[in-house]
Amino acid sequence: MSTRSIVITGAGGQVGLEAVDIFTASGWQVTACDRSRLDVTDRKAVRDLIGTTRPDAVLNLAAWNAVDLAESEPDGAFAANAMAVRHLAQACREVGAHLTHVSTDYVFDGTKDAPYHEWDPVNPRSVYGRSKAAGELEAGPDALVVRTSWVCGARGSNVVKTVLNLAADPDRTLSFVTDQRGCPTLARDLATTLADLIDDRHSGIFHVTNGGAVSWYEFVQQILTTAGYPSSRVRPITTAEMDPPRPAPRPANSVLDHAALRLCGLPPMRHFTDPLGEMIDELRRIGSVPLP
Ligand SMILES: NC(=O)c1ccc[n+]([C@@H]2O[C@H](COP(=O)([O-])OP(=O)(O)OC[C@H]3O[C@@H](n4cnc5c(N)ncnc54)[C@H](OP(=O)(O)O)[C@@H]3O)[C@@H](O)[C@H]2O)c1
Repeated sequence: MSTRSIVITGAGGQVGLEAVDIFTASGWQVTACDRSRLDVTDRKAVRDLIGTTRPDAVLNLAAWNAVDLAESEPDGAFAANAMAVRHLAQACREVGAHLTHVSTDYVFDGTKDAPYHEWDPVNPRSVYGRSKAAGELEAGPDALVVRTSWVCGARGSNVVKTVLNLAADPDRTLSFVTDQRGCPTLARDLATTLADLIDDRHSGIFHVTNGGAVSWYEFVQQILTTAGYPSSRVRPITTAEMDPPRPAPRPANSVLDHAALRLCGLPPMRHFTDPLGEMIDELRRIGSVPLP
């Protein structure tokens, strides 16, 4: 089979960095575009790059992820998370490329008392969630849309690294909420499943997260004990006790059911505790965060 080619946008982000490695190792010819190489909000630049490279596939990992800032700067969020996907979808149609777009658990309102599956109606409560829901529509019916949640990778900023940096100060007490639940997802595992789905040219919506649903408080307990700290370093609070409160509301339940993977006969991803351990081992090797 001839070498297949893929353009990866947002290649400098935590999932992007893993995706570039995984597609390259799998023999794809990868055009890795961080923001300096391709600003996805620039329609002409998107059409020029995709029209010139004529890839078999495009994986869009560029996103405005500043959830709270989006409340006061909605145009920024909609430009990157919705309009940019319109540009990418048009450019993909013009060259016959398969588009994959990555979305979020924040498209749901969090009131369901069971995990959300792919056919549950969306009802985002934040500007960020609304911009990502709009992006799903802009991707179009032939695209693969992968919703994920609580993403953490060794390269990039995320709650694992934040917790480990804060925990290094013995006088610091951490407080995390017990009333928001979701599925932590390690960036490398997500990129691996993205590669499997793209390899097989899937389309439609898939929920892709690691296994294991926890509250933020329970997740932070797991991060601490995996790194060698006592779990008592974190104190449970409720969302109402957060001081100051965050501008953007978060879904209380953002646990995603992986119905589409299951119904396609694809294996579920492993429990998050294994890849979390691997990530913390990697951070220890790199020495990028203080660890006991
Ligand atoms: N992180 C999470 O917890 C989470 C949860 C659910 C879903 N997701 C989704 O998963 C996907 C990957 O997220 P991630 O965690 O890898 O995020 P990330 O680390 O923040 O990476 C996003 C990348 O997109 C780039 N970017 C932003 N605006 C751009 C633009 N206009 N043109 C080109 N690049 C642009 C950013 O560059 P700069 O650094 O220069 O801004 C950054 O490198 C996104 O679709 C995100 O919405 C993430």
